[in-house]
Amino acid sequence: MRFTFTCRILVGCFAFIAFANSGVTLLSENSQTADLPKIVKSNGRYALFVDGAPYLMLSGQAHNSSDWPAMLPGVWKAGELLNANTIEIPIYWEQFEPQQGKFDYSTLDLVLKQAREHNFHLVLLWFGTWKNGNMNYTPQWIKTNPGRYPRAEDANGLPLDSLSAVSDSNVKADCAAFSTLMSHLKAEDPEHTVLMVQVENEAGIYRSSRDFSPQAQNLFNAQVPDTLLAALHKHPGTWQEVFGAEADENFEAWCVAHYIEQVARAGKAKYPLPLYVNAALRDPLRPKPSAYSLDVGYPSVFEYGGPTDTVLNIWKSTAPSIDVIAPDIYFGDYSRYNLVLELYTRPDNPLFVPETGDDPAFARYLFTTVGHGGIGFAPFGIDSITNRNISATGIRGVPNKVASTADAMLVPDALATNYALFASMDREIALWNFEGKIQGSAEDLHSDTQTMAFGKWEAIVRYGLAAYGDGPPHQAQSGPPGGALIAQLSPDSFLVIGFHVRVDFKIADPSSTKQRQFLTVEEGSYKAGKWTPLRLLNGDETDFGLNFSSVPEILKVTMATY
Ligand code: DGJ
Repeated sequence: MRFTFTCRILVGCFAFIAFANSGVTLLSENSQTADLPKIVKSNGRYALFVDGAPYLMLSGQAHNSSDWPAMLPGVWKAGELLNANTIEIPIYWEQFEPQQGKFDYSTLDLVLKQAREHNFHLVLLWFGTWKNGNMNYTPQWIKTNPGRYPRAEDANGLPLDSLSAVSDSNVKADCAAFSTLMSHLKAEDPEHTVLMVQVENEAGIYRSSRDFSPQAQNLFNAQVPDTLLAALHKHPGTWQEVFGAEADENFEAWCVAHYIEQVARAGKAKYPLPLYVNAALRDPLRPKPSAYSLDVGYPSVFEYGGPTDTVLNIWKSTAPSIDVIAPDIYFGDYSRYNLVLELYTRPDNPLFVPETGDDPAFARYLFTTVGHGGIGFAPFGIDSITNRNISATGIRGVPNKVASTADAMLVPDALATNYALFASMDREIALWNFEGKIQGSAEDLHSDTQTMAFGKWEAIVRYGLAAYGDGPPHQAQSGPPGGALIAQLSPDSFLVIGFHVRVDFKIADPSSTKQRQFLTVEEGSYKAGKWTPLRLLNGDETDFGLNFSSVPEILKVTMATY
């Protein structure tokens, strides 16, 4: 949030001028709630609009058991140390509806109140029917009445720790609870503290490739629904006939997506906030096995039925009330991370990383997530990463500006530093991204150099270099890997930010005999949306390119040739 009322009006007016009549698609639009947070699509690009303008969620997710009054102070503290603008926090079905039809709003109301006091936006996580593929957060009146609220079954008829996705009474109970949550938000959140709601958490089932309960088996033996056939361009038949070896995987994905669509639709009918689901991923570099086995980590490392990349078309066509399918990315290596970003950035899907590793080595993926057009990013478990001790002297020998207080020294420096960098200009970055002006880079530990094309210029992004001189990269440097973000503001001018990286530009045309020169390299910052210069960099500071350490720096660069 961190935004004054006047600023909100200015942003709103600006956005109205910029986007009126532009043909943009408002995915969560409702005429009665015109200023609601919404996902907007224009020219194939997405943005999350908040108060009428693109917004970047620099978020962090609280631990699973942190949405209790005693734990909340630690969550806000962590968000502040992290320089986050948004906090993701669960709402537990068992706490929200302890007796059927009797709702307890106390925790939700407290979270709303305290988030506002701490100037945070919120993303709420509905821990309902599914939490990591099981039913642990369902209320006791569900858990103790399997006759009425049936569980999924494995191929031997044994009940799983997961509600059956094909049971009407299960979905009706969740719809009633979720729509009550959304009604309450509509009534109690006129200032739109809550930006998005996650429907369930890593939905799917464990230890079975699908639900084999009698009701599910009947559906499996029946014809594949026409709408799905049409969406996938398939001929009619049973699931086995249409999908062969992929029948189980596709059936369970359809069942879970269909269930969640009903819950999402019921909630949106009350209050049309953007809704999303998060995915427990499969290993995207692992070849698809020829036969099913529950221990090969396929389709997901953990679950069946969730929105893994293999079933995104099924999810997209079956759950249109879900605005975003969002990957939880815990793969630390560059190749897998990058591939997941590509797989979930689709013309029909905005990119959002609602969970990622809390290790500082993951911080660099903020640059690539945003570079792929991402609307938000969130390390998981922020309320414990603040307890991790880090070097007070910063990284790679550069004093850490963020570590200026005893508290801040406990922050994982790369995450906090990057968020500090982005937070000062989150609105600008979100807008440039929506306009397609931004590209991002994260350090690949197997390669020193990356390039990005910007019309007549090519940006050269190099990692592992000392701040001065042209020596080879020295791998002995300690500290988290780096990243860079470049926005092209005009054909020859760029805004550049980075962490542990050197950025330079060259003329893209290889036949050109001209050389590049920095006309100006201005260091400055954005204050209330206005660029405020601090100084011109020159000499040692630009002789070898633009060197970014762990000290946040924002540079505006004008290039020329000679
Ligand atoms: C992914 C889940 O979505 C989170 O709720 C949490 O359980 C993390 N995994 C733990 O790593």
